[in-house]
Amino acid sequence: APHTVQAYRASLLHFLADPAFTEEAYSWHQDGLLIVEDGRVKAAGDYAQLVSTLPAGLEPHDYRGQIITPGFIDTHLHYPQTDMIASPAPGLLPWLDTYTFPTERQFGDPAHARATAEFFLDELARCGTTTAVVYCTVHRESVDAFFEASEARNLRMVAGKVLMDRNCPDFLRDVEGQVGDSEALINKWHKHKRSLYAITPRFAPTSTPAQLGAIAELAKAWPDTFIQTHVSENKDECSWVRELYPDSRSYLDVYDGYGLMRPRALFGHCIWLDDEDFARMAATGSAASVCPTSNLFLGSGLFDFEKADGAGAKVTLGTDVGAGTSFSMLQTMNEAYKVARLKGSYLPALRMFYLATLGAARAMDLEGTIGSFKVGAEADFIVLDPKCTPLLERRSVHCNSLEEQLFALALLGDDRAVRATYAAGVKVHERSGAVA
Ligand code: GUN
Ligand code: ZN
Repeated sequence: APHTVQAYRASLLHFLADPAFTEEAYSWHQDGLLIVEDGRVKAAGDYAQLVSTLPAGLEPHDYRGQIITPGFIDTHLHYPQTDMIASPAPGLLPWLDTYTFPTERQFGDPAHARATAEFFLDELARCGTTTAVVYCTVHRESVDAFFEASEARNLRMVAGKVLMDRNCPDFLRDVEGQVGDSEALINKWHKHKRSLYAITPRFAPTSTPAQLGAIAELAKAWPDTFIQTHVSENKDECSWVRELYPDSRSYLDVYDGYGLMRPRALFGHCIWLDDEDFARMAATGSAASVCPTSNLFLGSGLFDFEKADGAGAKVTLGTDVGAGTSFSMLQTMNEAYKVARLKGSYLPALRMFYLATLGAARAMDLEGTIGSFKVGAEADFIVLDPKCTPLLERRSVHCNSLEEQLFALALLGDDRAVRATYAAGVKVHERSGAVA
């Protein structure tokens, strides 16, 4: 019979704190051992110290030369937009009208939704993402299909039905002022197996004040669900919100006015926030999901990491597929680094790996559950190969520190760097072939 205990020998990296604010923020074991029992972390430390604790006869999986980290957490993306990734349009609003709404129409069909969800989850596994915060469409079928697929793989996923009751095509519109099947979906999926539900107003322009009121009620009735939406992504969108909600102090203040800022509320983009907005993000325990590949692709703008950190706001990274141009959190770090540089700030690689693991778990109020190798945490982890391509192999020889090694992986890596992905201790992806 297979052991319920499994062990993995590799270099181990995980975070204990935010490297932007703390000196000893991470744990690194050059020759490490990760021990997993019944899908949870039993121990993580030096191989030499831990090997004697293994059950007799248990041979560790040999991943020497590779780096094991917690699986990546992508805090913002749209599974129904998989088939329209890299669709050209001059900015957010035409992109939504031309591609997004027609594409999302098809997700009333359960078979289409399920097939797309399966591909999407395969792609996340290839990229080393073990938890994602996912927009479905307005159709309840799109939510059922997604969670049926993610539960069959035993993944910790967050998702929800998109809510919109105006400024969208009839075929994607909720009954005015109502939240459709949201409550039934929360009852069905929230905390069922590893699933968690996100109440998902698309963004302020597509909800009437009456619908935001109904969403506020729902969020109050279900305080441990997630809330996800978009805010201050694009300048035209911001002007539109000023017209639609003239009494609100700012775009973010529309949500604030409905009580939608709270722990487990994730706001996509946050590019055009002012100081007062960032102060509200911090005060309410809300989190920004920063999506640099999307923001550069649509020309939306550059997120201000320094301002967010200065305010003490929680920050996470998202791909925002299909406006985002990659499923890879490594490629998302690559672009985040450049966005930070263009704003005059600087993101070390260690900070970016933190943001994609423990930082996201903390922002999601899931610290101790995912995002680290704390004893008892769910064993969602990935095996990264720092020599996965000829170029990275050549570059690695000249890396003189962990920071340099992680930086090269973030800037040059993608799905090719992910040798294997494990969810709750079970392998869900293994990269075929040797050096790419
Ligand atoms: N704002 C409202 N809907 C969307 C969406 O689907 N993608 C992005 N990037 N922004 C949005
Ligand atoms: Zn989005």
